[in-house]
Amino acid sequence: TVVPVILSGGSGSRLWPLSREGYPKQFWPLLGGGRTMLQETASRASGPGFAPPVVVCNEAHRFLVAEQLREAKVEGARILLEPAARNSAPAIAAAALLLRQADPESVLWLLAADHAIADVPALHRALEGAVAAARAGRIVTFGMRPDKAETGYGYIETGADLPGLPRVHAVARFIEKPDAATAERFVAGGRHLWNSGMFVATAATLLDELSRYAPEVVQAVERAMAAAKRDLDFVRLGEAEFTAAPAISIDYAVMEKTERAAVVPAAIGWSDIGSWDALWDAAEKDGAGNATVGPVELLDAEGCYVRSEGTLTAAVGLKDMVVVATDDAVLVAPRARAQDVKALVERMKAAG
Ligand code: GDD
Ligand code: MG
Repeated sequence: TVVPVILSGGSGSRLWPLSREGYPKQFWPLLGGGRTMLQETASRASGPGFAPPVVVCNEAHRFLVAEQLREAKVEGARILLEPAARNSAPAIAAAALLLRQADPESVLWLLAADHAIADVPALHRALEGAVAAARAGRIVTFGMRPDKAETGYGYIETGADLPGLPRVHAVARFIEKPDAATAERFVAGGRHLWNSGMFVATAATLLDELSRYAPEVVQAVERAMAAAKRDLDFVRLGEAEFTAAPAISIDYAVMEKTERAAVVPAAIGWSDIGSWDALWDAAEKDGAGNATVGPVELLDAEGCYVRSEGTLTAAVGLKDMVVVATDDAVLVAPRARAQDVKALVERMKAAG
């Protein structure tokens, strides 16, 4: 069996004003259909062959997570609570340590809680190849064919086929978040794939590679685990110990350095729902390319994402814009500037 490990600690500031610190994007039904991103993720990784998931999240969101899993009828989940966000490497180290206690050869499927995947059967086929490679000691990524020079992703240069492992290639090089010129070059060259942000590896492999390339992370998280308190389904990591871990992502900490990386190229209809523009991309649109959610009226609009949580929201003559209206805030921005919402939120936060 495979143990899904859902990383649910991001704050999703680029999806303000819907996504808030107290209630980030993974807890919203962003794609419609009623289920939240977390619930979608959990359901993608349930059924025969899957153990109950481990969810790693901030302590502040423990009841949100427990309630949403209960609502989605996910049973037996364990919820690992972080006293502070230290990025994905410490979160993954914590999950690997928890699962190694039961079995070092446990196969972990690390999943981001904020992705849309249109073709789940294709994902499960790719996972089969990935699990076989993980059992052979690899850290396996899923490679997505890039269609633009996105700088917010990791890029994978595919290497040789791995003998005995159908569909799996070695990773020649892993480059996290390249600059724009490098990303252009990678996309034009046709030999690079995007890293999906999902990984498959055994607990032992993850901890070996983390210990080799980011020993301070493992040491801090081991101490946090030793100081952990358990109540109900929650495992609460020791606060001072966990907070001492360096804040670093798995991509920089391990994937750029390890020689055990592998990749399964897969066409799964993947998108990272990181910004309003990405959400527009993944959403169903009308004939003029508009995606609307909630009570919205548009006249002569084109290429827009317009969402209202209740207030009737109307617009005339907009092109390629984002409009998001919630109870207490409204955002208006060109779709092409969707990434900059993060900077806006940071500025508002600094100003109090
Ligand atoms: N538990 C926990 N704690 N989860 C976290 C934390 C944390 O401190 N920080 C981030 N995560 C979770 C996020 O919620 C998300 O599900 C996942 O880890 C990835 O973090 P992001 O912050 O969204 O990473 P990214 O989008 O910049 O980059 C990653 O994903 C890209 C694809 O979406 C990388 O893996 C890239 O290489 C990849 O292309
Ligand atoms: Mg992301």
